[in-house]
Amino acid sequence: MQILNTIAELRAQVAAWRRAGERVAFVPTMGNLHPGHIRLVERAREQAPRTVASIFVNPMQFGANEDYAGYPRTLENDGRQLEAVGLDLLFAPPLAEIYPRPLEQMTQVAVPELSAILCGASRPGHFNGVTTVVSKLFNQVQPDVAVFGEKDWQQLLIIRRMVADLDIPVEIVGVPIVREADGLAMSSRNGYLSAQERAIAPKLYATLQATVERLQEGERDYAVLEAEAKTRLAAAGFRPDYFEIRGSDDLQRPTAETQAVSALRIFAAAWLGRARLIDNLAVMPN
Ligand code: PAJ
Repeated sequence: MQILNTIAELRAQVAAWRRAGERVAFVPTMGNLHPGHIRLVERAREQAPRTVASIFVNPMQFGANEDYAGYPRTLENDGRQLEAVGLDLLFAPPLAEIYPRPLEQMTQVAVPELSAILCGASRPGHFNGVTTVVSKLFNQVQPDVAVFGEKDWQQLLIIRRMVADLDIPVEIVGVPIVREADGLAMSSRNGYLSAQERAIAPKLYATLQATVERLQEGERDYAVLEAEAKTRLAAAGFRPDYFEIRGSDDLQRPTAETQAVSALRIFAAAWLGRARLIDNLAVMPN
């Protein structure tokens, strides 16, 4: 596995593969890798003979009071995992390679509407930071395929929209959420949890599952279900941010109680100690 730190070296290597007619699949990450990230790399390896992953903790997507400085940086251990799964190239640029000027002077890419709701409402500017860095990475790597996790379902939809709107020639592949044995969605931020909080954390997924069961039993008062779920999370020790039943593909609120329940997905974000956990669950298994 090669580790490259500059756009010029990255471009030279990818161009050589392209000249040889080899397709390239790409997995962008912020590092501190866990089996969820590794699953994305495995999927990338099924998509193309050459695979590139990036590790870059992107300051543009963190709010002023968020965990940019403290975000776990574990490059050596990440590199070992990526090598073991057969990755060809790890791109790990320093900050100035991606943002040569102060952030506020850099061009941004913004996807309207989808970026303003759910996590975007709680984290203003977050998704502009994501779409900006992902467009830059797409221009740097020029992959045929890029792989994203369904753990960040809203992010996945926003990236699909960006690629469609800007005619970026890349296919976007989504990978189902990888969970711990007790249901907790794997996340780099789970490391912020104390032992006591870690014991509570699976209740986020359990609450999503309980809400799906109520929908499958025929309950259609979405506002009641959302309020019940938030009460249940608060009682368990979370500070709920949002818990919303939305259209899976458009993130819109269901228009009528008759709207096909199969097209719905439940989205949750909740604070537990200093960790903000997110999760989502389709109402009908695909
Ligand atoms: P990061 O949080 O490191 O996640 C990188 C990718 O791994 C994302 O596509 C995310 O959805 C996926 N992922 C994380 N946990 C997962 C899990 N438990 N199961 C399946 N997939 C999982 O998302 C980002 O970084 C950044 O916003 C990025 C796209 C790299 C832009 O900076």
